[in-house]
Amino acid sequence: MCGIIGLVAKEEFGVRDELLKGLKRLEYRGYDSSGFATSNGDFVKTVGEINNLLDNVDKTLKARTAIAHTRWATHGGVTEINSHPHFNKEKTLFVVHNGIIENFQKLKEDLELEGYEFISQTDTEVIVHFLDSKIKQGKSVKEALLEFEKTVKGTYAILAINKDEEKIYALKKDSPLALGITKTGFVLGSDIYAFSDKTKKAIFFDDNELAEITAEKYAFFDKEGNEIVKAPKTFEWEEAKEQELDFAHYMIKEIKEQPKTSKRLIESLHTLQKDKLKEFAKLIKDCKKLFFIAAGTSYHASLIGAYLFNNQGIDARTMIASEFENFSLVDKDTLIIPISQSGETMDVVSVLKEIKKAGAKVASIINVPYSTIQRHSDLSIETLAGQEVCVASTKTFTNQLIVLFALAKELGYEMDIEGIPDKIQKTIDENEEKTKEIAKELSQKRDIFILGKGATYPIAREIALKLKEIDYIHASGMMAGELKHGTIALIEDGTPVISLIPKSDLSMDSSTKEVEARGAKTIIISNNGGDFIVPDSDDAEFAVYSTMIGHLLSYYIGVELNLPIDKPRNLAKSVTVK
Ligand code: M6R
Repeated sequence: MCGIIGLVAKEEFGVRDELLKGLKRLEYRGYDSSGFATSNGDFVKTVGEINNLLDNVDKTLKARTAIAHTRWATHGGVTEINSHPHFNKEKTLFVVHNGIIENFQKLKEDLELEGYEFISQTDTEVIVHFLDSKIKQGKSVKEALLEFEKTVKGTYAILAINKDEEKIYALKKDSPLALGITKTGFVLGSDIYAFSDKTKKAIFFDDNELAEITAEKYAFFDKEGNEIVKAPKTFEWEEAKEQELDFAHYMIKEIKEQPKTSKRLIESLHTLQKDKLKEFAKLIKDCKKLFFIAAGTSYHASLIGAYLFNNQGIDARTMIASEFENFSLVDKDTLIIPISQSGETMDVVSVLKEIKKAGAKVASIINVPYSTIQRHSDLSIETLAGQEVCVASTKTFTNQLIVLFALAKELGYEMDIEGIPDKIQKTIDENEEKTKEIAKELSQKRDIFILGKGATYPIAREIALKLKEIDYIHASGMMAGELKHGTIALIEDGTPVISLIPKSDLSMDSSTKEVEARGAKTIIISNNGGDFIVPDSDDAEFAVYSTMIGHLLSYYIGVELNLPIDKPRNLAKSVTVK
């Protein structure tokens, strides 16, 4: 959450065209407000999307060094004052920050005793005054940052610049930060999206590392201030090019890309990632305990993973990452499988740091290469869905499922994975018009229930999540068998209930009849007749095609309601705070 970017170049660059274009690539990390500052002392902050900032910046403004921030508010409301960069009284020192300073109250009180006045309600403002205080005591910015690191509790990726100095100072703990190496200088960013249009060569900060970057060179230091050598890495990445957006929204573009993205993944699982797949399957077979950890949509994928692995005789469980410590025990014979699109979800990262102490092994399923979770893994399979811009996950979910299918196949599960891309295309082609029609009706409803069982229970939850996050409709994805133990009391005349009925499951038919008998308006997704008919398949594969219908429905409801589909309110794509 929150995106930060910094640019330092040999020649002057246009702030609007270079810096803020880069910041826009990070907008999915938060869009409450944004701002920038340059080493010439220019700065602007605005509330709302980055376009508001663009409207307020002189097109001719140039700089050689600048930092910028897009905010997902944690401490302090969505106001211009609370936007980053934060600065000292003289407006000569500017700071952007992603993370949370946990002991900010104590630091603030100490600084107030020194005479510092705070103008914002943020935790971040303590950083700039702390540094300012140390600099005024005669310390260098580097020394001030090292002292800050020793004093602070919390998570942070920080960029700082001084007026009239062509240098960026960077410090990182727990929140992600990377340094891209370009032809004209360097770009710092919260993740590779910040600069993957300019370079595929980067250095990834580890915790407690500090760096000083000028246009000519960079230097990294450990927490004692000793210089350390870090080697650049080259990464592969498929860009989502804004100029190629021939769809109204990224969500629908990303739904429709899936025949291509799933095919690319399947090919790679047969070639480049083949050995990793085998090694991953061996880890699964050899472990004594297996836990998936994930959040949101990735958690729904993990439920399917648990279903498939249990089916193959492996005792596999899954846990919402933020609750892992309360419900699970780990030892050195445990295999942890984190699933994450971003590879940065803090709830998952925190678990990994803890379980590593117990000696557990980590094999992850990740979309973004060199992300924190991947770098904390013993082994990692990439989902190769390419950049996903819409905050809601669609194509990355499908590819997570395909990796799980491939692993299950290694364990003995029989399935035709190669046929999936064509069947995805068929599902979209044969059902899209109908989803538009039904979306009109559903857009007028306040509550929607979705019923599933076994492999489709996770899909019921996934569809419910999309209806909530995209359409702001209360939706509940349920195990069909559990309905009659209470929730059925909510069913009245006309209550919409989406039933996921693979042809093998007769019990789903009965649950559907039970709600119909109480007046529910059922919408049936099945591979055996119904409102939406998807290609013939087994239950696990059915999960993929029924998800398509659910994602299309939530997309078209969002269109009906004229909602900000790609950037729903209060959300961010990469949840890097706890
Ligand atoms: O990057 P991750 O897969 O770890 O993210 C997990 C969730 O935050 C994410 O799936 C979220 O629920 C999406 N908004 C769902 O569409």
